[in-house]
Amino acid sequence: MSEGDVVSEEFGEAYWEDRYRTHAAEHGRQPNPQLVAEVRDLAPGTALDAGCGEGGEAIWLASRGWRVTAVDIATTALRRAREHAEALGPDVANRIDWVRADLTGWTPTGEHFDLVTTHYVHPATSRDALFDRLAAAVTPGGTLLVVGHHPSDQHAARSHASTPDVHFTAEEIAASLDPDRWEIVVADARTRSVTRHDGHEITLRDTVLRARRRP
Ligand SMILES: C[S@@+](CC[C@H](N)C(=O)[O-])C[C@H]1O[C@@H](n2cnc3c(N)ncnc32)[C@H](O)[C@@H]1O
Repeated sequence: MSEGDVVSEEFGEAYWEDRYRTHAAEHGRQPNPQLVAEVRDLAPGTALDAGCGEGGEAIWLASRGWRVTAVDIATTALRRAREHAEALGPDVANRIDWVRADLTGWTPTGEHFDLVTTHYVHPATSRDALFDRLAAAVTPGGTLLVVGHHPSDQHAARSHASTPDVHFTAEEIAASLDPDRWEIVVADARTRSVTRHDGHEITLRDTVLRARRRP
């Protein structure tokens, strides 16, 4: 899925499945730079990637020794992700569990992760409810990393008023975390460059929230 595409107001399963089926696979894409910047110094453990898409971030985590649960609603994205991981060999592929689930209703059963991360998940329903559940899945001492589209990003100018949950600031997410239980490590807005399908390079603005659950 290329950033810089126009955002639709519908974000259900059919929308995402259609998006993947009508876009070429992104094998070989670099992992998200905000993930790399925030996680490269963490000791590998267990990770949940919520809305993993074609698996670029899950595969990068697995290649660095993380044991990853990667969840997405789109079957086509998960198939591509699994194929890519398997092409890289068992050291990577065997570290990732690909799970097809709707994150608006899915909760990892009794499991907690050293890292819970999500990138541009575009929930069709309440963003707050989803992020609350993701935060609850972080083990004490673990890290929550939320990367999204900043309200000042050019995505925001093109998307519909009916999808305000797609764009948010790190401060908004930080405000929803109980300060007795969470230490805010990073609350930032950062730019990154991406190349669109038509070859044009554009600059996007990301929200980056990194928080540590107090032990
Ligand atoms: C903009 S894409 C981002 C994909 C990937 N995280 C990345 O950064 O390239 C949003 C992803 O979230 C997934 N998604 C959206 N709503 C979902 C839901 N309710 N449950 C699970 N996955 C969902 C989509 O299928 C899609 O793969």
